[in-house]
Amino acid sequence: MHRLRNKRILLGISGGIAAYKSAELVRALTGAGCDVRVVMTQGAKEFITPLTLQALSGNPVHHSLLDPEAEAGMGHIELAKWADFILVAPASANFIARLAAGMGDDLLTTLCLASIAPLAIAPAMNQAMWLDASTQANIKKIQSVKSIQIWGPDQGQQACGDVGPGRMIEPINLAQLLAQQFESKALSGKTVLITAGPTREAIDPVRYISNHSSGKMGYALATAAQEAGAQVVIISGPVQIPPPDRVQVISVESAQQMLEAVEAKLADTDIFIGAAAVADYRPANLATQKIKKNNDEMAIHLVKNPDIIALVAAKSDKPFTVGFAAETQDILSYARGKLEKKNLDMIIANDVSNKEIGFNSDDNAVIVIEKDQEKEYPQASKYQLAQQIISHITNKL
Ligand code: C5P
Repeated sequence: MHRLRNKRILLGISGGIAAYKSAELVRALTGAGCDVRVVMTQGAKEFITPLTLQALSGNPVHHSLLDPEAEAGMGHIELAKWADFILVAPASANFIARLAAGMGDDLLTTLCLASIAPLAIAPAMNQAMWLDASTQANIKKIQSVKSIQIWGPDQGQQACGDVGPGRMIEPINLAQLLAQQFESKALSGKTVLITAGPTREAIDPVRYISNHSSGKMGYALATAAQEAGAQVVIISGPVQIPPPDRVQVISVESAQQMLEAVEAKLADTDIFIGAAAVADYRPANLATQKIKKNNDEMAIHLVKNPDIIALVAAKSDKPFTVGFAAETQDILSYARGKLEKKNLDMIIANDVSNKEIGFNSDDNAVIVIEKDQEKEYPQASKYQLAQQIISHITNKL
């Protein structure tokens, strides 16, 4: 749903009992950050008042083609140009017939003719009206001639008591379909492998060494890459955040397990992003039983963990490899050193000593460093930064 943020949605409502659900749809869209403008047909106003939709959308509702007052504000041609997407929900049999005929006999049909924005309709009507040969012929025509998307209708119990096809798709599902329309295809056909979160290095069956990584940055990158059309796999240490939609998450605990999971998935990977905070060391010996506190002091002998990203970047057919450098001092020089030493294509440096943008926070601010250039991305949410980083990476491919 993040994809709907700041999108300009022109919502057309035609006359049908499902029009009452349009109020919920407006709420879902504005809640997802859309700017919604509602256009109603004459029939729609019999089912739901413009005032309700004005209050929910926060914008005046448009319903008349030749209203001088409305034209003095945002005229119909401006409105047609304003829209990023037009969705008509519900679309009645009568509206569909007028659309198929190419008519411009009210504001909504005129906008559909005048706008170059993509258009989808969500039909809603009695099942016999939907199955009627004329409606079906109109649907075929608007699909083939005008490549308008038809979302639904659903099957089931109808307001009139009939059972069959004709129910409007539920508002939340319409909002999700709309969000999918804004997916970028920049990484389509590409496979992205991301390590995320901390690792846990066991000391004994109940204790481990770990760090404060939340996994948020890696998961945000996975979301942004998926939204850009990539097939995404996360190899994740233990985290408390939900898996992103349509992303495969492989859960691991230790650095050794993370390395094995990465190697198993590396073939065909186009982009590797090491966002995990991999523990640098692990206990040399794992006690098989819980260690008892018999002594005043104890020492744990640590050995170095494999450097996962360096092993990936050392391969002859290495993917485009992006690392992170979480530093508390001399950020740039440490990050540049790691770019070189680990043979990375890009490293993303961030200052984890700053509480507002460090581990576990929702924001970040980074400097993207490549061999020949550096670019600073100021503080933003981890999701917004992830989108910027993914777009930066995409430009390099
Ligand atoms: O050396 P340092 O831990 O600061 O390097 C950070 C980068 O290296 C990150 O991209 C991290 O995911 C990766 N890394 C790794 N395996 C390790 C240590 C770090 O992949 N054992």
